[in-house]
Amino acid sequence: MFKIVKREELVPSSVILHEIHAPRVAQKTRPGQFVIVKATETGERIPLTMADTDPVAGTVTIIFMVVGKSTALFASLQEGEGYADLIGPLGRATDIEKVGHVVCIGGGTGIAVLHPIARAMKEAGNRLTVILGARSADFMILKDRMSALADTFISVSDDGSTGKKGFVTDALQETLALGKPELVVAIGPVPMMKAVSEMTRPDGIHTLVSLNPIMIDGTGMCGGCRVSVGDKVKFACVDGPEFDGHAVDFDGLSQRLSAYKEEEQAAMEIHRCRMEAQAANSDQQS
Ligand SMILES: Cc1cc2nc3c(=O)[nH]c(=O)nc-3n(C[C@H](O)[C@H](O)[C@H](O)COP(=O)(O)OP(=O)(O)OC[C@H]3O[C@@H](n4cnc5c(N)ncnc54)[C@H](O)[C@@H]3O)c2cc1C
Ligand code: FES
Repeated sequence: MFKIVKREELVPSSVILHEIHAPRVAQKTRPGQFVIVKATETGERIPLTMADTDPVAGTVTIIFMVVGKSTALFASLQEGEGYADLIGPLGRATDIEKVGHVVCIGGGTGIAVLHPIARAMKEAGNRLTVILGARSADFMILKDRMSALADTFISVSDDGSTGKKGFVTDALQETLALGKPELVVAIGPVPMMKAVSEMTRPDGIHTLVSLNPIMIDGTGMCGGCRVSVGDKVKFACVDGPEFDGHAVDFDGLSQRLSAYKEEEQAAMEIHRCRMEAQAANSDQQS
């Protein structure tokens, strides 16, 4: 079992942090890589990026949004409990180089994925602008850690409850008006990554995005995570998850991500019914 040594609700019932004891993975991981975790032996395999690692303590940190059946099950796991399986590190690590001015843009739980990449970019000697976006102040995760890394920090929210009211693209436009950065890294919802890539395209600013297609085996064998990049078919689990934002077919990715919406909703309903029945049972027993 991979034991949870720390659990935090970054957003109550919605965004959960688990620090997990997994020494071998913690020692090998580099920024941009992910793990596949299973709550039980027969459970669903869920890919999650490592938001942090501590090779000395032998722990990896994942931060996930509760969106369906499996992430709801993960959220119910408490400190001292654990995951049946944790496989990794998977995927290609980010190329970290000193290039000059790097703009790191994170949206929602994409901020967690961005965190180790932004830190490594800063450690490599780059000037860092960090732009974070969330629907409201409650969902603005890792704000302190990310602002501490940044030379310039901008936060925006849909409702104006933290930072400026607006989208990350508004903040990017202001940043681009001051000069052309060498690199933009954008991680968040697919429409956000698409919008950022369109904004940097005219000036040919190298733009990296991290994709989250449905994954099954995570080994490049099943084809579940295929994405179109340029005129090629790529597998996000082994060729990615990072790709050149100017070459990604974001519309195809969105279509594939919504292909199983009905089945996912049905699985969540069954999970919810079981949880409610379990809670009613334990109420009767006590
Ligand atoms: C490389 C990679 C890294 C990721 N890192 C993070 C992370 O750090 N934090 C985080 O909150 N989420 C991350 N995700 C997304 C996360 O894997 C999904 O939210 C999760 O699988 C949903 O499972 P579920 O059973 O709770 O929901 P479901 O009911 O199965 O699905 C809910 C939604 O999640 C999407 N989804 C379902 N299964 C997968 C899957 N296997 N892979 C990708 N998306 C899926 C569906 O399109 C759907 O919109 C990552 C995905 C990938 C591919
Ligand atoms: S998850 Fe099976 S090929 Fe990538």
